Amino acid sequence: MSQLKGACIIGQSGGPTSVINASAYGAIKTALESDCITKVLGARHGIKGVLEDDLIDMGKEDPQELEMMNYTPSSALGSCRYKLKDPDEDDTDYKRILEIFKKYNVRYFFYNGGNDSMDTCNKISKFMLKNGYECRVMGIPKTIDNDLAGTDHCPGFSSAAKYIATSIMEVYCDAHVYDTGMITIIECMGRHAGWLTAAAALAGVKGCGPDLIYLPEVDFDLDDFTKKVKAIYEQNKNCIVAVSEGAIAKGGEMQLKDGEVDAFGHVKLGGVGDWVADEIKKRTGSETRAIVLGHLQRGGTPTAFDRVLATRLGLEAAAAVSDGDFGKMMALQGTDIVRIPIHEGTDVLKVVPVERYRDAEVFFGA
Ligand code: F6P
Repeated sequence: MSQLKGACIIGQSGGPTSVINASAYGAIKTALESDCITKVLGARHGIKGVLEDDLIDMGKEDPQELEMMNYTPSSALGSCRYKLKDPDEDDTDYKRILEIFKKYNVRYFFYNGGNDSMDTCNKISKFMLKNGYECRVMGIPKTIDNDLAGTDHCPGFSSAAKYIATSIMEVYCDAHVYDTGMITIIECMGRHAGWLTAAAALAGVKGCGPDLIYLPEVDFDLDDFTKKVKAIYEQNKNCIVAVSEGAIAKGGEMQLKDGEVDAFGHVKLGGVGDWVADEIKKRTGSETRAIVLGHLQRGGTPTAFDRVLATRLGLEAAAAVSDGDFGKMMALQGTDIVRIPIHEGTDVLKVVPVERYRDAEVFFGA
C-alpha cells in the first residue's frame, strides 16, 4: 500500500465522447474516497488548466451534480488540443506543470483522452521521474476513433458506432422514397482508422446497410468505384456508400479542410464525402448527395457497454493509486481491465487489419 499522500488533478483532453465524463466520474469519486488523496482538482480544458492554474476543487461540488457526469455526454471539465513540446527542445511547459504540482502538492495526475493525450501523459510522467518529483501519472483512454492500441475497445467508440449504424438505417429509408433514384455518399469520422466507418455495416443487419464501404486502410480506385456504383445503381436505382474521412483515392490526395491543422499538427480531415459525390455525379450523371455525419457522431446517447467500460476504466485508474502504480494506461483486454505502459497505447495506431477488410469484401461483395 502506497504512503504517498497528496492532491490529485484530473483533466480531459481531445474530442469529447458520450462517456468521457463517466470515466472522469469513476476516477473523481474513487479519488475523493481515497486515503492517500488529500484534494481532488479538476483541470479546466485539460493540460491548459494546469498551465494556467485554472483548477476546480471537485470536493466542493455538489455530489449529486457530480454523479450526473455519469449520464452526461461531452467533456464536463472542458477539453483542449494542446501539444506539449519535446522537453529536450523546450521544457517551459513542463517546468510550469512542476511548479503547479508543487504548489498544490499534486502527487496524482489522471489524464482522460486519446492518442495525443496519452502522449502528454507519457511526457509528464517521464519529466517528473527525471526531475525526482514523485507523481503518479495515469492515462484513462477515450476516443470514438477506437485507434488506441493495447485495448480491445476505446470508450466512446461503441456509442458513436451505434449512432452511425442507426443513422445509416434512417438515411436508407430516406434515400428510397423517390422513384427517380439516388446515390448517397455518407462521410464518417475516425481519422486514419476505419473502425467507425466499418460500423456502418451493422445497419445491414436490418437490410438497410450501405452497398459499399471505403476505409483509410485501403486506397480505393475511383474508376473501379464508379463501375461498382453504376452497377449497383442500375440494378437498384439506388446506392449508398459509407466513406471514412481519412479515405484516399488511388493517385488522389487526402481531403483536408483547407489545409488546416490542429494544435497537435494533425491535418484536419473532412470533405471526402463531397469530393466523391461530385466525382460520381460527373461520371454517372445520376442524382447524388453527400451527407457528413460530423460532430453528431460523438455526443449522442451512450451504449450500455460504453457506460460500463468508461466507468470501469476510471475506477481502475484511481484503484491503481492504492497499489502505487504509475505511468500506465488503463485498457480492456477480454473482459478484464488491465494496466499497460502508456506508450503501448500510442506506439502504433490501431487500424482495421487489411485482411479483415478483404474478408468483408468477399463476404459482402463490396
Ligand atoms: O475525437 C476524434 C475526432 O472526432 C476525429 O474522428 C475527427 O477527425 C476529429 O476528432 C475532429 O476534431 P475537432 O473536434 O477538432 O473537430
